[in-house]
Amino acid sequence: MPTQKIVAPPANAAMFLVLTVNEGAEAQVADVLTGVSDLTKAVSFRVPTSNLLCVVGIGHDAWGRLFDAPLPKDLHPFKEFHGDVHSAPATPGDLLIHLRAGTQDVCFELAKQLMTRLRPYTQVQDEVHGFKFFEERDLLGFVDGTANPEGDEAQTAAVVGDQDPAYRGGSYVIVQKYLHEMSEWEALSTGEQERVIGRSKLEDIEMPDEQKPANSHVALNDLDDVDGHAREIMRDNMPFGEVGSQEFGTYFIGYAADPAITETMLENMFIGNPPGTYDRILDFSTAVTGGLFFAPPKSFLDDPTTVPAQSTSAGVDAADEDAAPAASADGSLGIGSLKKS
Ligand code: HEM
Repeated sequence: MPTQKIVAPPANAAMFLVLTVNEGAEAQVADVLTGVSDLTKAVSFRVPTSNLLCVVGIGHDAWGRLFDAPLPKDLHPFKEFHGDVHSAPATPGDLLIHLRAGTQDVCFELAKQLMTRLRPYTQVQDEVHGFKFFEERDLLGFVDGTANPEGDEAQTAAVVGDQDPAYRGGSYVIVQKYLHEMSEWEALSTGEQERVIGRSKLEDIEMPDEQKPANSHVALNDLDDVDGHAREIMRDNMPFGEVGSQEFGTYFIGYAADPAITETMLENMFIGNPPGTYDRILDFSTAVTGGLFFAPPKSFLDDPTTVPAQSTSAGVDAADEDAAPAASADGSLGIGSLKKS
């Protein structure tokens, strides 16, 4: 399997870990990352029906610290958006670990195994345990994920292709942790809530365009390019929370072949389209974290020396385990190396 598995049916359980890498511990962290797929296999083999998936993403500032390999074409720091009323802040994060499975036990076990190895070299900035809530609903009560692309379209939307041959099979991941104002949300009638989202609550049917408010969540996130083609991402949001402390949240995670698409959605939501017409969902949901990561192909994670130093080597798919790296002009294999190893 050349890529980390990005596109998958909605899971029942998930964990999201955002870590920063300690100064001077880069080589150790890079080394632990080469063992992630073996660890995932070991935990998953104990419960094969659990469909355990692990995706590791690397932030812009950490990439050059961890690897000598070139920066993926579109990897940059998370772009903040500050609208007149609401903001999408950037928060610290060098590594994202996204675990999904049919049950929480395997996610927890893999997280524990990973953290045993990473703990001495990293700081945990955020940890969220997500759960499936009824029919793929978020804690606002709406079905979340319906309009996701499927099959080949999902793959094209989420996974890097010819636009960056060296990192074909990778994906740009944007995450944000949102906290909901439940008492204000529940004070709205169902009809008002439906106009915030742009779909019916019980049946999950999209409103006709002439009824859908311009500031509804769906209206602002349904993007087309100039030729009318859909600009899509693959979302895998999960509810999370604690009733004792009245924490009710949605962990947003969007995978994209091109992070500019997710950024346009964020711009529409926070600044508005046109500016000022911001997403009404934000009046009930506050973004408290924000990060952009690149999830490299599995072959790179297993061995970060497999990507050609020049990402333009014609005709070679370095992300494909079957493809040999191209020889460079100086006769070397032109490969990157583990930083400081
Ligand atoms: C508070 C956090 C969020 C919640 C509770 C939420 C919930 C929902 C719900 C209920 C839908 C309608 C059903 C569906 O198609 O999935 C939806 C659609 C969508 N959301 Fe979100 N969402 C959140 C944040 C975001 C963010 C941050 C983005 C992008 C940066 C986003 C992008 C989309 C897209 C692309 C759609 C589909 C639009 C279409 O119909 O084409 N969402 N979301």
